[in-house]
Amino acid sequence: MVSFKINFEEVSFEGDSDTPLLWVIRDHLRLTGTKYGCGVGQCGACTVHVDGVAQRSCMTPVSGIAGRSVTTIEGLAPSDAGLHPVQQAWLEHDVPQCGYCQAGQIMATADFLQRFPNPTDAQIDANVTNICRCGTYVRIRKAIHRAAELTAGEES
Ligand code: FES
Ligand code: FES
Repeated sequence: MVSFKINFEEVSFEGDSDTPLLWVIRDHLRLTGTKYGCGVGQCGACTVHVDGVAQRSCMTPVSGIAGRSVTTIEGLAPSDAGLHPVQQAWLEHDVPQCGYCQAGQIMATADFLQRFPNPTDAQIDANVTNICRCGTYVRIRKAIHRAAELTAGEES
């Protein structure tokens, strides 16, 4: 059995410990905001945070997160605190098209902004490598800059 926290709640999984975390999240815990795209670590649709760091859950065996803390898109914004700044920026810039990749984009960005609080375009391009088949990259970049402003408390 593997026990860990997800969105601040203790959970356990009794299946095969090699099961990818993505399938435990979606099929066992029924948190379907995290998406399956490529299954080989390339697209980022499955991005979650493990101990606050973005990780591609399709490539993470559940055994590797025993005792750790996972955050999915459902838990990114604490329930009493409204939207996370990245979510707010995404809304302001109307980023999603089909929406399929967007939970992963938001989770990757939330981690990225912890490391690059005032990023350049080059830093965004080098570090937020999630794929969007709808090509929303221009809006994603604008929203990342806006999320940085919101995080810094600049309400323009
Ligand atoms: S589904 Fe995990 S990186 Fe594509
Ligand atoms: S919004 Fe459609 S794949 Fe990104």
